[in-house]
Amino acid sequence: MIPAPNFFEGIIQQLNTGIVIVDQVGDIQFWNQFMKLNSGHDHEDVLGRSIYDIFPEIPQSWFQKKIDTVYTLQHMAFTDWKKRPYVFRFPTTRPITGEVEFMYQNCTFSPLINEQRKVAGVLIVFTDITEVAEQTLAMERLTNNLEKEKQEQQKLITKLEEAQNQLLQSEKMAAIGQLAAGVAHEINNPTGFVYSNMGSLGLMVEDLMAVIDVYEDQLCRNSTPEAQQTINQAKEKYDFDYLKEDLVNLVKESKDGIERIKRIVEDLKGFSHVGESDWQMASIHKGLESTLNVVWNEIKYKAEVEKHFGDLPEIECIPSQINQVFMNLVVNAAHSIEKKGKIVISTGQKDQQIFISVADSGCGISQEHMNRIFEPFFTTKPVGKGTGLGLSVSYNIIKKHHGHIEVDSRPGEGTTFTLWLPILQPVQVED
Ligand SMILES: Nc1ncnc2c1ncn2[C@@H]1O[C@H](COP(=O)(O)OP(=O)(O)OP(=O)(O)O)[C@@H](O)[C@H]1O
Ligand SMILES: [Mg+2]
Repeated sequence: MIPAPNFFEGIIQQLNTGIVIVDQVGDIQFWNQFMKLNSGHDHEDVLGRSIYDIFPEIPQSWFQKKIDTVYTLQHMAFTDWKKRPYVFRFPTTRPITGEVEFMYQNCTFSPLINEQRKVAGVLIVFTDITEVAEQTLAMERLTNNLEKEKQEQQKLITKLEEAQNQLLQSEKMAAIGQLAAGVAHEINNPTGFVYSNMGSLGLMVEDLMAVIDVYEDQLCRNSTPEAQQTINQAKEKYDFDYLKEDLVNLVKESKDGIERIKRIVEDLKGFSHVGESDWQMASIHKGLESTLNVVWNEIKYKAEVEKHFGDLPEIECIPSQINQVFMNLVVNAAHSIEKKGKIVISTGQKDQQIFISVADSGCGISQEHMNRIFEPFFTTKPVGKGTGLGLSVSYNIIKKHHGHIEVDSRPGEGTTFTLWLPILQPVQVED
């Protein structure tokens, strides 16, 4: 026990800070007024008793370690409210809510050195830090909430950006689609009657030829040699034999040509799917064929297209959007080829998923670009050639279809994009 002059002891008693002195085994040697007020124990009641008896809630091994450290090292030890909010469980009233809680504390353990320069006791001083702690905790909660809100906002911004990009490209697609559908519609009618006329023309030419044959036969038999000579001269002049043969071929070729126009018109209509944004069961191969026909002009001088189509069931999808993805992949593949190359389109099924891969023999994608190709507006193409939206929109469409895209690329050799799509959607999604 350290003797203190009455004057100083008076001050210590009055301090609004807890002061306790214990010996090496934790027996209490001194106890100030603050401790009495908060614990309800008088100085006389606790003197010489173990602090662990008075406060059974104190974690004894931890507390004893602090005392031992002070005795051994003759250094101060410290514990703050963040590490250990309450050493002594003193109740306190929250200023704002009025709720009774425990008093947050900072505690110091200091050695009391006697004349023999030995540690004679440990002075434990603790301060009530409740107000600061409450404010700090409130601040932390606020910061956490703000951080959460910030993250939510960031997510919203990302979603908004995605939606805007999708909108940008789908506007472009809608415009192309509408144009395609409009052109298709306009071409459809004249093509229809030219096709039908060609059919009749073919039959008529055949009839006409039959009549001419009869004429020729009769003329050969019944006409004068002069008349026959005149006829032969005319036939020679107009190359009748060739004309006869070619006329039939011409009509046939024209019919083939018109049939091709009809197919293209059908593809344009199929590709645009104007007004169709519903989930439906659709054929992937049909979508691929019509998309290839629509972008044929972009590919034909660059690449030979090889198709390895497997057996595919119809899949649940929004066909116009899937066609949009095909178009982006095929056009990208064509763009990646500098002079002349190859594009291989393969399809197949694995369990409940189907795949469509578009492999090109183009320039490939460098490692540094690989991580960025799905970013909106990322493009390596010159201004005016690419907006950098194709893959980002394709990614979102495939995500919406609960599928995924794989990329495999070797710079200088080529790139393969593989789409994986479920045959049926796990849940019916609103468009
Ligand atoms: N098959 C491919 N081979 C090589 N690079 C590719 C291939 N596909 C995409 N890329 C790279 O990814 C980038 C982004 O492609 P994305 O389709 O998103 O945009 P873009 O083709 O540049 O423009 P947009 O499609 O909007 O007209 C391309 O600029 C290109 O660098
Ligand atoms: Mg593109």
